[in-house]
Amino acid sequence: MPKKIRLGILGGGGDSLIGVLHRVASQINDNYEIVGAVFNPHIKDSIAFAEEIDVPTDRIYKDFDTLVEEELKLPEDERIQVCSILTPNFLHFPMALKLIENGFHVICEKPMTTTLEEAKTLQKAHEKAGTVFALTHTYTGYPMVRQMREMIKEGVLGKIHKVDAVYYQGWINEIIHDEEKRKSVWRLDPEKAGISSCMGDIGTHAFNMVEYATGLNINSILCDFNYLYKDNKMDIDGTVLIRMDDHVKGVIRASQVATGEENALGISIYGQKGGLRWKQEDPNFLYLLSDTDPTQIYKPGHAYNSELSLAGTKLPPGHPEGIFDSMANIYLGAAKAIRGEEYDQGEFPTMVDGVRGMNFVEATVESHKEGNVWVELEK
Ligand SMILES: NC(=O)c1ccc[n+]([C@@H]2O[C@H](COP(=O)([O-])OP(=O)(O)OC[C@H]3O[C@@H](n4cnc5c(N)ncnc54)[C@H](O)[C@@H]3O)[C@@H](O)[C@H]2O)c1
Repeated sequence: MPKKIRLGILGGGGDSLIGVLHRVASQINDNYEIVGAVFNPHIKDSIAFAEEIDVPTDRIYKDFDTLVEEELKLPEDERIQVCSILTPNFLHFPMALKLIENGFHVICEKPMTTTLEEAKTLQKAHEKAGTVFALTHTYTGYPMVRQMREMIKEGVLGKIHKVDAVYYQGWINEIIHDEEKRKSVWRLDPEKAGISSCMGDIGTHAFNMVEYATGLNINSILCDFNYLYKDNKMDIDGTVLIRMDDHVKGVIRASQVATGEENALGISIYGQKGGLRWKQEDPNFLYLLSDTDPTQIYKPGHAYNSELSLAGTKLPPGHPEGIFDSMANIYLGAAKAIRGEEYDQGEFPTMVDGVRGMNFVEATVESHKEGNVWVELEK
Protein backbone atom coordinates (compact mmCIF):
# COMPACT_ATOMS: atom_id res chain seq x y z
CA MET A 1 0.00 0.00 0.00
CA PRO A 2 1.53 3.39 -0.96
CA LYS A 3 1.84 6.03 1.75
CA LYS A 4 -1.31 7.95 2.49
CA ILE A 5 -1.78 11.29 0.78
CA ARG A 6 -1.51 14.21 3.21
CA LEU A 7 -4.82 16.07 3.04
CA GLY A 8 -5.66 19.56 4.30
CA ILE A 9 -9.25 20.73 4.80
CA LEU A 10 -10.51 24.30 4.39
CA GLY A 11 -14.00 24.90 5.76
CA GLY A 12 -16.19 21.89 6.42
CA GLY A 13 -16.32 22.46 10.17
CA GLY A 14 -18.71 20.70 12.50
CA ASP A 15 -21.35 23.33 11.71
CA SER A 16 -21.20 22.67 7.96
CA LEU A 17 -23.32 20.60 5.64
CA ILE A 18 -20.68 19.11 3.37
CA GLY A 19 -17.67 18.61 5.67
CA VAL A 20 -18.67 15.16 6.87
CA LEU A 21 -19.16 13.92 3.31
CA HIS A 22 -15.61 14.86 2.36
CA ARG A 23 -14.04 13.57 5.55
CA VAL A 24 -15.74 10.18 5.31
CA ALA A 25 -15.24 9.93 1.53
CA SER A 26 -11.53 10.66 1.87
CA GLN A 27 -11.19 7.68 4.24
CA ILE A 28 -13.28 5.12 2.34
CA ASN A 29 -10.54 3.83 0.06
CA ASP A 30 -7.71 4.29 2.59
CA ASN A 31 -5.86 6.82 0.46
CA TYR A 32 -5.81 9.99 2.56
CA GLU A 33 -4.84 11.18 5.99
CA ILE A 34 -6.10 14.55 7.29
CA VAL A 35 -3.00 16.30 8.59
CA GLY A 36 -3.98 19.99 8.67
CA ALA A 37 -7.00 22.24 8.49
CA VAL A 38 -8.80 25.52 8.90
CA PHE A 39 -12.24 24.10 9.59
CA ASN A 40 -13.79 27.40 10.66
CA PRO A 41 -12.98 31.12 10.50
CA HIS A 42 -12.27 31.15 14.27
CA ILE A 43 -9.35 29.05 15.45
CA LYS A 44 -11.02 28.13 18.75
CA ASP A 45 -13.84 26.48 16.81
CA SER A 46 -11.37 24.78 14.45
CA ILE A 47 -9.36 23.33 17.32
CA ALA A 48 -12.44 22.23 19.24
CA PHE A 49 -13.70 20.45 16.15
CA ALA A 50 -10.31 18.84 15.44
CA GLU A 51 -10.31 17.48 18.99
CA GLU A 52 -13.86 16.22 18.58
CA ILE A 53 -12.96 14.20 15.49
CA ASP A 54 -9.48 13.25 16.72
CA VAL A 55 -7.41 15.14 14.16
CA PRO A 56 -4.04 16.30 15.63
CA THR A 57 -4.26 20.00 16.51
CA ASP A 58 -0.62 20.95 15.82
CA ARG A 59 -1.48 21.82 12.20
CA ILE A 60 -4.83 23.49 12.77
CA TYR A 61 -4.12 27.02 11.60
CA LYS A 62 -5.76 30.33 12.42
CA ASP A 63 -6.53 31.07 8.78
CA PHE A 64 -5.88 29.97 5.22
CA ASP A 65 -2.88 32.23 4.58
CA THR A 66 -1.16 30.90 7.70
CA LEU A 67 -1.81 27.34 6.56
CA VAL A 68 -0.03 27.94 3.26
CA GLU A 69 2.81 29.88 4.88
CA GLU A 70 3.48 27.31 7.60
CA GLU A 71 3.07 24.26 5.38
CA LEU A 72 5.60 25.64 2.90
CA LYS A 73 8.17 25.71 5.71
CA LEU A 74 7.81 21.94 6.17
CA PRO A 75 9.90 19.43 4.20
CA GLU A 76 8.06 18.29 1.07
CA ASP A 77 7.52 14.79 2.39
CA GLU A 78 5.66 16.14 5.44
CA ARG A 79 3.78 18.98 3.78
CA ILE A 80 0.07 18.87 2.90
CA GLN A 81 -0.15 17.53 -0.68
CA VAL A 82 -3.76 18.35 -1.46
CA CYS A 83 -6.31 20.69 0.08
CA SER A 84 -10.08 20.26 -0.05
CA ILE A 85 -11.90 23.59 -0.29
CA LEU A 86 -15.29 23.29 1.42
CA THR A 87 -16.04 26.90 2.28
CA PRO A 88 -18.86 29.14 1.00
CA ASN A 89 -18.39 29.88 -2.71
CA PHE A 90 -16.63 33.29 -2.57
CA LEU A 91 -13.58 31.74 -0.89
CA HIS A 92 -13.03 29.01 -3.49
CA PHE A 93 -11.20 31.28 -5.94
CA PRO A 94 -8.68 33.02 -3.66
CA MET A 95 -7.96 29.76 -1.85
CA ALA A 96 -7.61 27.62 -4.98
CA LEU A 97 -5.45 30.21 -6.74
CA LYS A 98 -2.98 30.52 -3.89
CA LEU A 99 -2.83 26.75 -3.43
CA ILE A 100 -2.22 26.14 -7.13
CA GLU A 101 0.42 28.85 -7.32
CA ASN A 102 2.23 27.26 -4.40
CA GLY A 103 2.25 23.76 -5.87
CA PHE A 104 -0.56 22.15 -3.86
CA HIS A 105 -3.11 19.87 -5.49
CA VAL A 106 -6.73 20.95 -5.00
CA ILE A 107 -10.05 19.22 -4.49
CA CYS A 108 -12.67 21.97 -4.74
CA GLU A 109 -16.37 22.22 -4.11
CA LYS A 110 -18.67 23.58 -6.78
CA PRO A 111 -19.44 26.13 -8.06
CA MET A 112 -15.71 26.45 -8.72
CA THR A 113 -15.67 30.26 -8.43
CA THR A 114 -18.17 33.11 -8.34
CA THR A 115 -17.45 34.41 -11.87
CA LEU A 116 -16.32 33.09 -15.23
CA GLU A 117 -13.40 35.50 -15.18
CA GLU A 118 -12.13 34.03 -11.92
CA ALA A 119 -12.59 30.53 -13.34
CA LYS A 120 -10.44 31.38 -16.35
CA THR A 121 -7.74 32.92 -14.15
CA LEU A 122 -7.71 29.73 -12.13
CA GLN A 123 -7.48 27.66 -15.30
CA LYS A 124 -4.44 29.60 -16.50
CA ALA A 125 -2.68 29.20 -13.16
CA HIS A 126 -3.51 25.50 -13.17
CA GLU A 127 -2.16 24.97 -16.69
CA LYS A 128 1.09 26.58 -15.58
CA ALA A 129 1.33 24.57 -12.37
CA GLY A 130 0.43 21.17 -13.83
CA THR A 131 -0.99 20.03 -10.50
CA VAL A 132 -4.17 17.99 -9.95
CA PHE A 133 -7.49 19.79 -9.67
CA ALA A 134 -10.66 17.85 -8.94
CA LEU A 135 -14.06 19.52 -8.80
CA THR A 136 -16.54 17.68 -6.61
CA HIS A 137 -19.60 17.30 -8.76
CA THR A 138 -20.35 14.48 -6.35
CA TYR A 139 -22.98 12.69 -8.37
CA THR A 140 -20.63 11.77 -11.22
CA GLY A 141 -19.05 9.30 -8.80
CA TYR A 142 -22.12 7.02 -8.68
CA PRO A 143 -21.48 3.67 -10.41
CA MET A 144 -24.74 3.93 -12.35
CA VAL A 145 -23.96 7.46 -13.58
CA ARG A 146 -20.61 6.20 -14.80
CA GLN A 147 -22.39 3.26 -16.42
CA MET A 148 -24.75 5.67 -18.20
CA ARG A 149 -21.77 7.61 -19.57
CA GLU A 150 -20.08 4.46 -20.83
CA MET A 151 -23.27 3.03 -22.40
CA ILE A 152 -23.86 6.28 -24.27
CA LYS A 153 -20.22 6.32 -25.39
CA GLU A 154 -20.67 2.75 -26.71
CA GLY A 155 -23.71 3.85 -28.71
CA VAL A 156 -26.39 1.95 -26.79
CA LEU A 157 -28.83 4.84 -27.31
CA GLY A 158 -27.83 5.53 -30.90
CA LYS A 159 -28.00 9.17 -31.84
CA ILE A 160 -29.20 11.24 -28.87
CA HIS A 161 -31.97 13.75 -29.53
CA LYS A 162 -33.45 14.76 -26.19
CA VAL A 163 -32.06 15.39 -22.70
CA ASP A 164 -34.08 16.26 -19.60
CA ALA A 165 -32.22 17.00 -16.37
CA VAL A 166 -33.94 18.06 -13.18
CA TYR A 167 -32.66 19.12 -9.79
CA TYR A 168 -35.46 19.95 -7.39
CA GLN A 169 -35.14 20.83 -3.71
CA GLY A 170 -37.58 22.52 -1.35
CA TRP A 171 -35.32 23.58 1.54
CA ILE A 172 -35.33 27.31 0.76
CA ASN A 173 -39.10 27.59 1.27
CA GLU A 174 -38.55 27.83 5.00
CA ILE A 175 -36.21 30.79 4.46
CA ILE A 176 -37.49 32.63 1.41
CA HIS A 177 -40.96 33.36 2.76
CA ASP A 178 -39.53 35.03 5.88
CA GLU A 179 -38.19 38.57 5.26
CA GLU A 180 -35.55 38.40 8.00
CA LYS A 181 -34.39 34.87 7.25
CA ARG A 182 -33.93 35.50 3.55
CA LYS A 183 -31.35 38.17 4.39
CA SER A 184 -29.38 35.82 6.61
CA VAL A 185 -28.24 32.79 4.56
CA TRP A 186 -25.06 32.97 2.48
CA ARG A 187 -26.61 31.15 -0.46
CA LEU A 188 -28.94 34.18 -0.97
CA ASP A 189 -26.13 36.72 -0.57
CA PRO A 190 -24.48 37.61 -3.91
CA GLU A 191 -21.29 38.65 -2.07
CA LYS A 192 -20.86 35.13 -0.74
CA ALA A 193 -22.62 32.87 -3.25
CA GLY A 194 -21.96 34.70 -6.53
CA ILE A 195 -24.61 35.97 -8.92
CA SER A 196 -26.92 32.99 -8.68
CA SER A 197 -28.44 30.87 -5.94
CA CYS A 198 -30.37 28.07 -7.61
CA MET A 199 -28.38 27.70 -10.85
CA GLY A 200 -25.05 28.23 -9.09
CA ASP A 201 -25.79 25.80 -6.31
CA ILE A 202 -27.68 22.97 -7.98
CA GLY A 203 -28.25 23.91 -11.64
CA THR A 204 -24.48 23.50 -12.11
CA HIS A 205 -24.73 19.89 -10.96
CA ALA A 206 -27.47 19.21 -13.52
CA PHE A 207 -25.48 21.01 -16.23
CA ASN A 208 -22.39 18.97 -15.41
CA MET A 209 -24.42 15.75 -15.31
CA VAL A 210 -25.77 16.42 -18.82
CA GLU A 211 -22.30 16.99 -20.28
CA TYR A 212 -20.73 14.15 -18.25
CA ALA A 213 -23.32 11.56 -19.22
CA THR A 214 -23.79 12.48 -22.87
CA GLY A 215 -20.18 13.41 -23.65
CA LEU A 216 -21.66 16.35 -25.57
CA ASN A 217 -21.33 20.07 -24.96
CA ILE A 218 -24.21 22.42 -24.32
CA ASN A 219 -23.77 25.17 -26.89
CA SER A 220 -26.52 27.65 -26.05
CA ILE A 221 -29.19 28.19 -23.44
CA LEU A 222 -32.34 30.17 -22.79
CA CYS A 223 -33.30 30.70 -19.17
CA ASP A 224 -36.31 31.82 -17.15
CA PHE A 225 -35.78 32.42 -13.43
CA ASN A 226 -38.12 32.96 -10.53
CA TYR A 227 -37.25 35.10 -7.49
CA LEU A 228 -40.60 35.21 -5.60
CA TYR A 229 -39.86 38.46 -3.70
CA LYS A 230 -38.74 41.90 -4.92
CA ASP A 231 -36.06 42.23 -2.24
CA ASN A 232 -34.53 38.86 -3.19
CA LYS A 233 -31.85 39.35 -5.86
CA MET A 234 -31.05 35.67 -6.23
CA ASP A 235 -32.79 33.11 -8.41
CA ILE A 236 -34.36 30.33 -6.43
CA ASP A 237 -35.94 28.52 -9.36
CA GLY A 238 -35.17 28.31 -13.04
CA THR A 239 -35.95 26.52 -16.26
CA VAL A 240 -33.29 26.38 -18.94
CA LEU A 241 -33.76 25.26 -22.52
CA ILE A 242 -30.57 23.78 -23.89
CA ARG A 243 -29.21 23.21 -27.38
CA MET A 244 -26.35 20.79 -27.75
CA ASP A 245 -24.26 19.54 -30.66
CA ASP A 246 -25.99 18.28 -33.73
CA HIS A 247 -29.74 18.76 -33.14
CA VAL A 248 -29.72 17.54 -29.55
CA LYS A 249 -32.11 19.62 -27.49
CA GLY A 250 -33.37 19.50 -23.96
CA VAL A 251 -34.11 21.17 -20.69
CA ILE A 252 -32.52 21.70 -17.29
CA ARG A 253 -35.03 22.35 -14.52
CA ALA A 254 -33.77 23.45 -11.12
CA SER A 255 -35.59 24.69 -8.04
CA GLN A 256 -35.03 25.35 -4.37
CA VAL A 257 -38.75 25.99 -3.81
CA ALA A 258 -40.05 22.68 -5.14
CA THR A 259 -42.08 22.07 -2.02
CA GLY A 260 -41.50 18.68 -0.45
CA GLU A 261 -38.61 17.74 -2.72
CA GLU A 262 -35.40 16.74 -0.95
CA ASN A 263 -32.46 16.17 -3.27
CA ALA A 264 -34.27 15.20 -6.45
CA LEU A 265 -31.56 15.23 -9.10
CA GLY A 266 -32.38 13.11 -12.11
CA ILE A 267 -31.58 12.76 -15.76
CA SER A 268 -33.30 11.17 -18.76
CA ILE A 269 -31.52 10.86 -22.07
CA TYR A 270 -33.32 9.71 -25.19
CA GLY A 271 -31.78 8.48 -28.43
CA GLN A 272 -32.91 6.74 -31.60
CA LYS A 273 -32.37 3.26 -30.14
CA GLY A 274 -33.39 3.76 -26.51
CA GLY A 275 -33.50 5.92 -23.42
CA LEU A 276 -31.66 5.97 -20.08
CA ARG A 277 -33.13 7.25 -16.85
CA TRP A 278 -31.39 7.73 -13.50
CA LYS A 279 -32.44 9.39 -10.23
CA GLN A 280 -30.12 10.42 -7.40
CA GLU A 281 -32.55 9.44 -4.67
CA ASP A 282 -32.59 5.91 -6.09
CA PRO A 283 -29.01 5.75 -7.35
CA ASN A 284 -28.57 2.00 -7.68
CA PHE A 285 -31.04 1.63 -10.54
CA LEU A 286 -30.31 2.71 -14.09
CA TYR A 287 -33.23 2.17 -16.45
CA LEU A 288 -32.71 1.35 -20.10
CA LEU A 289 -35.93 2.18 -21.95
CA SER A 290 -37.07 0.91 -25.29
CA ASP A 291 -40.08 1.45 -27.58
CA THR A 292 -40.17 -2.27 -28.37
CA ASP A 293 -38.55 -4.27 -25.55
CA PRO A 294 -39.25 -4.48 -21.82
CA THR A 295 -37.39 -1.96 -19.64
CA GLN A 296 -34.01 -3.24 -18.38
CA ILE A 297 -32.60 -2.31 -14.98
CA TYR A 298 -28.83 -2.05 -14.54
CA LYS A 299 -27.45 -2.30 -11.00
CA PRO A 300 -23.97 -1.74 -9.51
CA GLY A 301 -21.28 -4.37 -9.17
CA HIS A 302 -22.41 -6.80 -11.89
CA ALA A 303 -19.88 -7.97 -14.44
CA TYR A 304 -22.06 -6.56 -17.23
CA ASN A 305 -21.14 -3.04 -16.11
CA SER A 306 -18.31 -1.04 -17.65
CA GLU A 307 -14.81 -0.92 -16.18
CA LEU A 308 -15.37 2.69 -15.09
CA SER A 309 -18.54 1.75 -13.25
CA LEU A 310 -16.98 -1.35 -11.65
CA ALA A 311 -13.99 0.70 -10.49
CA GLY A 312 -16.49 2.56 -8.31
CA THR A 313 -17.93 -0.44 -6.45
CA LYS A 314 -16.23 -2.17 -3.56
CA LEU A 315 -18.64 -4.98 -2.65
CA PRO A 316 -20.58 -7.59 -4.65
CA PRO A 317 -23.99 -6.68 -6.13
CA GLY A 318 -26.76 -6.08 -3.63
CA HIS A 319 -24.76 -3.79 -1.34
CA PRO A 320 -26.22 -0.36 -2.11
CA GLU A 321 -23.89 2.44 -3.14
CA GLY A 322 -24.70 5.84 -1.64
CA ILE A 323 -23.57 9.45 -1.64
CA PHE A 324 -20.51 8.73 0.55
CA ASP A 325 -19.34 6.07 -1.94
CA SER A 326 -19.97 8.43 -4.82
CA MET A 327 -17.79 11.17 -3.31
CA ALA A 328 -15.23 8.51 -2.31
CA ASN A 329 -14.93 7.57 -5.98
CA ILE A 330 -13.99 11.15 -6.84
CA TYR A 331 -11.39 11.11 -4.06
CA LEU A 332 -10.13 7.78 -5.40
CA GLY A 333 -9.70 9.19 -8.91
CA ALA A 334 -7.92 12.26 -7.52
CA ALA A 335 -5.63 10.00 -5.46
CA LYS A 336 -4.61 8.11 -8.61
CA ALA A 337 -3.86 11.41 -10.38
CA ILE A 338 -1.90 12.78 -7.41
CA ARG A 339 0.19 9.60 -7.31
CA GLY A 340 0.81 9.80 -11.03
CA GLU A 341 -1.10 6.57 -11.66
CA GLU A 342 -3.28 5.93 -14.69
CA TYR A 343 -6.89 7.00 -14.37
CA ASP A 344 -9.96 7.37 -16.55
CA GLN A 345 -11.12 10.90 -17.45
CA GLY A 346 -14.53 9.96 -16.08
CA GLU A 347 -13.15 9.43 -12.58
CA PHE A 348 -13.39 13.06 -11.50
CA PRO A 349 -14.57 16.39 -12.91
CA THR A 350 -11.81 18.90 -13.57
CA MET A 351 -10.96 22.55 -14.08
CA VAL A 352 -12.54 22.40 -17.56
CA ASP A 353 -15.87 21.40 -15.98
CA GLY A 354 -15.49 24.25 -13.50
CA VAL A 355 -14.97 26.83 -16.25
CA ARG A 356 -17.90 25.45 -18.24
CA GLY A 357 -20.05 25.48 -15.10
CA MET A 358 -19.34 29.15 -14.47
CA ASN A 359 -19.96 29.94 -18.13
CA PHE A 360 -23.36 28.22 -17.77
CA VAL A 361 -24.29 30.10 -14.57
CA GLU A 362 -23.39 33.50 -16.03
CA ALA A 363 -25.22 32.68 -19.26
CA THR A 364 -28.42 31.80 -17.38
CA VAL A 365 -28.32 35.10 -15.48
CA GLU A 366 -27.68 37.02 -18.72
CA SER A 367 -30.41 35.18 -20.59
CA HIS A 368 -33.02 35.92 -17.94
CA LYS A 369 -31.93 39.55 -17.53
CA GLU A 370 -32.04 40.24 -21.26
CA GLY A 371 -35.64 39.01 -21.48
CA ASN A 372 -35.21 35.24 -21.85
CA VAL A 373 -32.97 35.28 -24.90
CA TRP A 374 -30.67 32.59 -26.28
CA VAL A 375 -27.08 32.95 -25.04
CA GLU A 376 -24.13 31.09 -26.57
CA LEU A 377 -21.71 29.30 -24.28
CA GLU A 378 -18.01 29.54 -25.11
CA LYS A 379 -16.56 26.66 -27.12
N1 LIG B 1 -21.01 18.68 -4.02
C1 LIG B 1 -22.18 18.85 -3.45
O1 LIG B 1 -23.11 18.10 -3.71
C2 LIG B 1 -22.37 19.96 -2.46
C3 LIG B 1 -23.39 19.90 -1.51
C4 LIG B 1 -23.48 20.93 -0.56
C5 LIG B 1 -22.60 22.00 -0.60
N2 LIG B 1 -21.65 22.05 -1.58
C6 LIG B 1 -20.70 23.18 -1.67
O2 LIG B 1 -19.83 23.11 -0.55
C7 LIG B 1 -19.50 24.42 -0.11
C8 LIG B 1 -19.86 24.54 1.35
O3 LIG B 1 -21.26 24.33 1.50
P1 LIG B 1 -21.92 23.97 2.90
O4 LIG B 1 -23.35 23.74 2.64
O5 LIG B 1 -21.12 22.93 3.60
O6 LIG B 1 -21.75 25.36 3.66
P2 LIG B 1 -21.91 25.62 5.20
O7 LIG B 1 -22.27 27.05 5.37
O8 LIG B 1 -22.77 24.57 5.82
O9 LIG B 1 -20.41 25.37 5.77
C9 LIG B 1 -19.34 26.21 5.43
C10 LIG B 1 -18.15 25.91 6.35
O10 LIG B 1 -17.06 26.74 5.96
C11 LIG B 1 -16.53 27.36 7.15
N3 LIG B 1 -15.89 28.62 6.80
C12 LIG B 1 -16.48 29.79 6.44
N4 LIG B 1 -15.54 30.74 6.22
C13 LIG B 1 -14.34 30.14 6.41
C14 LIG B 1 -13.00 30.59 6.34
N5 LIG B 1 -12.71 31.86 6.03
N6 LIG B 1 -12.02 29.71 6.60
C15 LIG B 1 -12.29 28.43 6.95
N7 LIG B 1 -13.56 27.96 7.06
C16 LIG B 1 -14.56 28.79 6.78
C17 LIG B 1 -17.74 27.52 8.06
O11 LIG B 1 -17.35 27.73 9.40
C18 LIG B 1 -18.44 26.18 7.83
O12 LIG B 1 -17.85 25.17 8.62
C19 LIG B 1 -20.28 25.38 -1.02
O13 LIG B 1 -19.43 25.87 -2.03
C20 LIG B 1 -21.38 24.53 -1.62
O14 LIG B 1 -21.77 24.95 -2.90
C21 LIG B 1 -21.53 21.05 -2.49
